[in-house]
Amino acid sequence: MDKLVIEGGNSLKGQVSISGAKNAALPLMASSLLASGRHTFTNVPRLRDIRTMQILLSNMGAISEHGDRFEIDTTDIHTYEAPYELVKTMRASVLVLGPLLARYRRARVSLPGGCAIGARPINLHLRGLQQMGVDIELDHGYVIAKAPRLRGATISFEQVTVTGTENLMMAASLAEGLTILQNAAQEPEVVALAEYLNRMGAQIEGAGTAEIRIQGRKELIPATFTVIPDRIETGTYLVAAAITKGDLELKGCRPDHLNAVIQNLALAGLSIEGEGDSLRVKRVSEIKSLNVMTRPYPAFPTDMQAQFMALMTLGSGVSLITEQIFENRFMHVLELKRMGADIQLEGRTAVVRGVKRLSGAPVMATDLRASASLVLAALAAEGVTEIHRIYHLDRGYETIEQKLAAIGARVWRESS
Ligand code: EPU
Repeated sequence: MDKLVIEGGNSLKGQVSISGAKNAALPLMASSLLASGRHTFTNVPRLRDIRTMQILLSNMGAISEHGDRFEIDTTDIHTYEAPYELVKTMRASVLVLGPLLARYRRARVSLPGGCAIGARPINLHLRGLQQMGVDIELDHGYVIAKAPRLRGATISFEQVTVTGTENLMMAASLAEGLTILQNAAQEPEVVALAEYLNRMGAQIEGAGTAEIRIQGRKELIPATFTVIPDRIETGTYLVAAAITKGDLELKGCRPDHLNAVIQNLALAGLSIEGEGDSLRVKRVSEIKSLNVMTRPYPAFPTDMQAQFMALMTLGSGVSLITEQIFENRFMHVLELKRMGADIQLEGRTAVVRGVKRLSGAPVMATDLRASASLVLAALAAEGVTEIHRIYHLDRGYETIEQKLAAIGARVWRESS
């Protein structure tokens, strides 16, 4: 298993190109099941999760190629299943449920099991589908879903769910009549998916607000789409500049997708200037401790919580970081403490008391964003940090060690 070795202490300086967003590309790939033929996506990142979705779709009969563009042909779909082996490695596999039901009227999808960041059930996806007339049975760990007819419905989510909103939006695109999704997720990835579905001929209004209206169509046709930049990768490099007293220019990003993160980092002591699709970021003072609370978009994202906490470990005072989305997303805390951080957990809040320095240590990655927080802490720490179980990082950060090395980090990968 690979590990990442980082010798901390260098200020990061230079340019970083931001990759396409994993969480936008995955639903787009799943949506290719809605229309028979050849779909073309550009700016699809080369990541393990993208490869997993590609394998999932190819098991169903899709033919795809990931070159400069990602081309996928869904003419010969013959299997309507997401098996346990793939769902357990990537929960986003559940995104095929809505499209399979919409187009083929049946699906067999493994229930996701436990997860490193919380229970993460899919009850809201299933309840919404049932409201649209889908018959759902649970059998030997699988959701067996059938939809002789798929009807539009008014579905009010009791909790905001990103992939739940995406799944139902895709199902509703080919349903009979109007579907209204209330308390829908407003994330940019949801908006991007709606734009692609509309490009295929769907009729969706309101994506990016809490109410999305979808008028079902009889048929959709394949189209072309460019994946939006990864806002979480962007935020991670912003923190890299902050934690190393660096000076970075991030190219090919969407600053408007990161307002809450940028506002907080500015308060924490960064100068951040946006121009078009780039961001220039510099540390201009000591790191100021501040409180953040994760919430659905447009508020501070849970996917930036661990990275922000790494920064706050070196803050000038006390920071309260409250996780409101996932009940167990603090696995990085114990690892950060091994590097000298002073953090106490009180329920859903981490009390982070700033320390003068972190020190390198062997640590273990537990999920994707936790891994990113350990990389950030390692970049600032004295001495050498070895991060084990780095496969988590490969799920969501494209060529991270090359990107970091190019801006002055001492980082390399070793097999252990
Ligand atoms: N929830 C339910 N029932 C459901 C669905 C969700 O109780 O049927 C709960 C979850 O347990 C959680 C909350 O609702 O407490 C929100 O979960 P959500 O469904 O929004 O999460 P998700 O769609 O499974 C996506 C991202 C995650 C990101 C979350 C929150 C993708 C592929 N994944 O997950 O990304 O953390 O939204 O923004 O889009 C990551 O990239 O590292 C990652 C985990």
